[in-house]
Amino acid sequence: MSAAHGANPLRDAADRRLPRIAGPSGLVIFGVTGDLSRKKLMPAVYDLANRGLLPPGFSLVGFARREWQDEDFAQEVYEAVKQHSRTPFREEVWQQLIQGMRFVQGDFDDDEAFEQLKTTVEELDKAQGTGGNFAFYLSVPPKFFPKVVQQLKKHGLADQKDGSWRRAVIEKPFGHDLASAKELNEVVHEVFPPHEVFRIDHYLGKETVQNILALRFANTLFEPIWNRSYVDHVQITMAEDIGIGGRAGYYDGIGAARDVIQNHLLQLLALTAMEEPASFDADALAAEKTKVLGAVKLPRDLGASTVRGQYAAGWQGGEKAVGYLQEDGIDPQSKTDTYAAVKLEIDNRRWAGVPFYLRTGKRLGRRVTEIAVVFQRAPHSPFDHTATEELGRNAIVIRVQPDEGVTVRFGSKVPGTQMEIRDVSMDFAYGESFTESSPEAYERLILDVLLGDSNLFPRVEEVELSWKILDPIERFWDEHGKPAQYQSGTWGPVEADEMLARDGRSWRRP
Ligand code: BG6
Repeated sequence: MSAAHGANPLRDAADRRLPRIAGPSGLVIFGVTGDLSRKKLMPAVYDLANRGLLPPGFSLVGFARREWQDEDFAQEVYEAVKQHSRTPFREEVWQQLIQGMRFVQGDFDDDEAFEQLKTTVEELDKAQGTGGNFAFYLSVPPKFFPKVVQQLKKHGLADQKDGSWRRAVIEKPFGHDLASAKELNEVVHEVFPPHEVFRIDHYLGKETVQNILALRFANTLFEPIWNRSYVDHVQITMAEDIGIGGRAGYYDGIGAARDVIQNHLLQLLALTAMEEPASFDADALAAEKTKVLGAVKLPRDLGASTVRGQYAAGWQGGEKAVGYLQEDGIDPQSKTDTYAAVKLEIDNRRWAGVPFYLRTGKRLGRRVTEIAVVFQRAPHSPFDHTATEELGRNAIVIRVQPDEGVTVRFGSKVPGTQMEIRDVSMDFAYGESFTESSPEAYERLILDVLLGDSNLFPRVEEVELSWKILDPIERFWDEHGKPAQYQSGTWGPVEADEMLARDGRSWRRP
């Protein structure tokens, strides 16, 4: 940006320290009665307002079938904020926010409702000074995406007039395979230009995920060893202790790999493995992520390098948990995976021969997401075997959540008269190094949408390449048997342990 405007390094340095505040704008949420909206989107809007990052006339419009008046909608938002917002409740912030709250009742086929939405948006422009700038957040089941964007077009809601902007924000899953993702992209791009389409992958909004780039490219310490000469393998884990809760309708038939490997875990892989971008701008970042995703290769034997599982009954946190097939709304014959582990390779000079193991699952031992870069053993050890044979490998672990930070693990001498060596770790914890708490991913992402900053949103190419990686795995699974069962509260099916054991490795137990 600075180069284009004739850079003044001093001014630019100062600018970067100023908070990024959204200009006049509003947000329309489709699917406003859903879980995501209540737990994440509404609280994030409030938190942004509370932090002073929204414009004074910011407007929030809910669109849903529910027979609500504006006041009912405001009450819903109020309860969501009270329950789920990150920052303390402040009456004056709330009073300002409700000035711009409106509700439009209708379903997605209802032309009158979309006309009403248009009128509402125009009225808000006048009353609240939103300047014609609106983002439309599609927090709806994917089968409705095409309908909603077509309705926006039909009713002129996607038109950008007099320098104003109109943007589409699309929740995942973006398709269920490559073909459907391509179709969806075509439909969306017929209505919104590519730079006005923001595909959500909320993992990219997490501070710890953005920190992968800081860790790698703001330091000299890590990058020289971040390659096949030193790295033995990489493990990316996203473990959840929860089951599918009330999401049977969404989850059954989708499964763990489509739900989170296609997006979150492949994005984590891309950030971990990509080359340094020329700058931190959206194009440069996307170029590197696209390159590395394009270099991902599946091992030939998918039977030996992928595992899927389904949780059976068990104990979790001292409570009895039912199996997946006994959950409400699940087909008792369902073959949906609630656990998935895959081994990927990256066909480039930096990573040739280094496996990337990705795993995710519901109802596992505990909630944790981490990226562990595990190093080769020292080529030679001058120490007595008996003293060092228990030694693990050196590792750098990026702890994405819940205990955000970075751990470096290495061997150290045990105090005493002998040369005994044990693994120890050195920790960086966000909570100790910084006083401010990390914003929620959705705060950052909603703000970026309003600012038109697309750094943290996957591009079409990334989404399509990710499906290209996953499609053959899903096909293979469809054709071969059923998922392995694992007991709730454990670390997944034994087949996943065997998969790594065959390579002479084992999963970390975070
Ligand atoms: C969502 C998945 O994208 O991520 C859910 O659809 C999953 O199944 C959730 O539970 C986990 O998000 P987080 O931020 O709690 O790790």
